[in-house]
Amino acid sequence: METPTPTSFATMVDEQAAEFRVQTAAYRGPTVFEAEMDRIFYKSWVYLCHESEVEKPGDFKSTQIGTRPVIVARDRDGQIHASLNACPHRGATVCREEKGNTRAFVCPYHGWSFRPSGALIGIPDEARYAEGFCKTDKNLKAVPRVASYGGLVFGSFNAEVVDLETWLGGVKKHIDIWLKRASGSRYRVATSHKYGYDGNWKFQTENIYDGYHPGFVHGSAFRTVKKFEGSFVNRELNTAVRQQGFTRGYPEGHGTLEAGAPLESGGIDAQVLADYEGQLRERYGEEGAAEVLTNRQFLVFPNLAIFDFNIRVIQPVSHDRTEVISYPVLIEDAHEQINSNHMLDAQTRVGTAGILSADDIDVFAGGQNALKAGGFDWITLSRGLAKEEIKDDGERVGVYSDETPQRAFWRRWKAMMGAAA
Ligand code: FES
Ligand code: FE
Repeated sequence: METPTPTSFATMVDEQAAEFRVQTAAYRGPTVFEAEMDRIFYKSWVYLCHESEVEKPGDFKSTQIGTRPVIVARDRDGQIHASLNACPHRGATVCREEKGNTRAFVCPYHGWSFRPSGALIGIPDEARYAEGFCKTDKNLKAVPRVASYGGLVFGSFNAEVVDLETWLGGVKKHIDIWLKRASGSRYRVATSHKYGYDGNWKFQTENIYDGYHPGFVHGSAFRTVKKFEGSFVNRELNTAVRQQGFTRGYPEGHGTLEAGAPLESGGIDAQVLADYEGQLRERYGEEGAAEVLTNRQFLVFPNLAIFDFNIRVIQPVSHDRTEVISYPVLIEDAHEQINSNHMLDAQTRVGTAGILSADDIDVFAGGQNALKAGGFDWITLSRGLAKEEIKDDGERVGVYSDETPQRAFWRRWKAMMGAAA
């Protein structure tokens, strides 16, 4: 198998009038993966955490941007900071907890200590350092850009990156609609579920808004699980390829999948649901409420996925290993049945042991095995190409089963991978 050179990354995505192809080499090997870290993950805004996870001064959370470990923490000044989780002394991992609250991070190796902002506080037995020893460059390395939108906190190692709202571009309106589901209240995220698979991270990003596969991959699950009886998915089972509903792709690489169907309502009393929907109608009008209640799942390029009540972070580990961290989203002032439903949905449908995730992971791992074995050079993502509507601002709209959002992702991938590092 040929190893791609940096100049050939852009040629891995080939768009013609009737076909959109991606080279299989784009999913395998350390050369592409390392270039993706440098050219995409360290150049983009990448999701760090939800504001509710770092609510009070001293609250922190360990996460990653690409493969770099990062600490996100709220300092005494109330500001959220992000720092590289690597000690400037000899490189040890400073914070080993997933989350918590602290006045200071103390490096476990030789005890250097740092504020939540990353600023160096002290060095044990400092007198043994010479007088000219510079301490000002021994803070934890700051992630230069941190910003949040609608409670979603993002960071970027690229000091020159465009402002966050410009980055979000076309997907911003979908975040706004998603926020309205809290019906005037706020979201909080619950404890995460995690799962991993032996496959490339892009298999999961491509799947988030894939309306082509559910009737096939998940067909047996839908048929056996009572929870889906009467739901929109069940009604579509026998048609397999769904046309109703929309996929959307944006020039920034983001994409959505929308189905004009009500929310899953398992375990919620009819009256509780009616009250909630009534509140939405009162607040946003009939049309606005229908928009809010539409099933909506979308990807914020490169690796943040938002399902109806689930935030999912797609964490690349290596070219053939990915971790997925899934957070149920709760509404602060909602009826407890609504939040229980969100938790149940995370456990039974889209979480670690959810019936849908298990099916998808099996496909991802199988795909990676086929790629390793080789023998084919291109895959195709052409469904709906040239049949989608293209709006003036570059938004493309396809039907539910089109590969419109996947193509938006790959166009952005191509643009960023083809740019000089
Ligand atoms: Fe952190 Fe030495 S590596 S104090
Ligand atoms: Fe799926």
